[in-house]
Amino acid sequence: MSVEGNVRCRAGPALKAWPAAALSFIFGCGYFFLRQHFKDGGWGFDPTLVNKSLAVTSLFLLSLSMLLTGLSALSEGNAGLLVRRKYYGLAGFWGGALHAAMSHVVFPAVGVELEKVERFGSLAAASAYAALAIFGIMALFSAPRPKASLGGENWRRLLRYLGYSGLVLAAGHAALLKLPSWLRYLKTFSSVLPSLSLPAVVLALATVLLRLALWASGRLRRRAG
Ligand code: HEM
Repeated sequence: MSVEGNVRCRAGPALKAWPAAALSFIFGCGYFFLRQHFKDGGWGFDPTLVNKSLAVTSLFLLSLSMLLTGLSALSEGNAGLLVRRKYYGLAGFWGGALHAAMSHVVFPAVGVELEKVERFGSLAAASAYAALAIFGIMALFSAPRPKASLGGENWRRLLRYLGYSGLVLAAGHAALLKLPSWLRYLKTFSSVLPSLSLPAVVLALATVLLRLALWASGRLRRRAG
């Protein structure tokens, strides 16, 4: 294969992850904008909607990254799906880092209030920071050198355990913050649309359950892990 062809092959999955991230982010902004209109009647757009969209995009991409393992096993080890996991994971990590910086640094510095957060308890904060740290470690370990020094099998196992722990923590963080809002929606349907975090967390849980089901059924190939 020519050098140009090689570069195109390597860049392909990375280049596909960013449009998916951008589309998800734009969809999220539009969704939260519309939802706010149904809730409050106005047509305002403020930075908290951007932050929510970043948060949900991050969780969606991280779930998608891990869901590809299960989907690959169901489609008899489609290698193309496995290659993309890293790039969806990296895009999800950077989205989460940006969301954390906005929530923790930018908004307090410029006096933007997170009006929809009923409480940001210590458990929600601890799970958020732990998830972000885990995905940061995974981003560092996704480079070729750690894979070579740990050996392929150990490296895959480490990333697998880190990834699913991080996903559970990130979903737990969103659930701890948003559970009252989800329950209110399910009881009254008053806001017409639920918070987008609800389907995002359902996707994260479905990803974990699919992985467990495939593991229990012995359908996962060891190398897909
Ligand atoms: C990879 C890591 C993270 C993910 C995937 C994530 C995901 C989420 C999700 C899905 C929501 C619910 C958005 C909504 O529907 O309103 C949320 C809310 C929130 N997160 Fe995170 N988060 C992460 C890390 C962090 C960190 C480190 C902080 C620390 C400051 C943080 C602070 C918040 C705050 C304050 C909210 C409430 C925002 C609002 O409702 O306007 N998150 N996060």
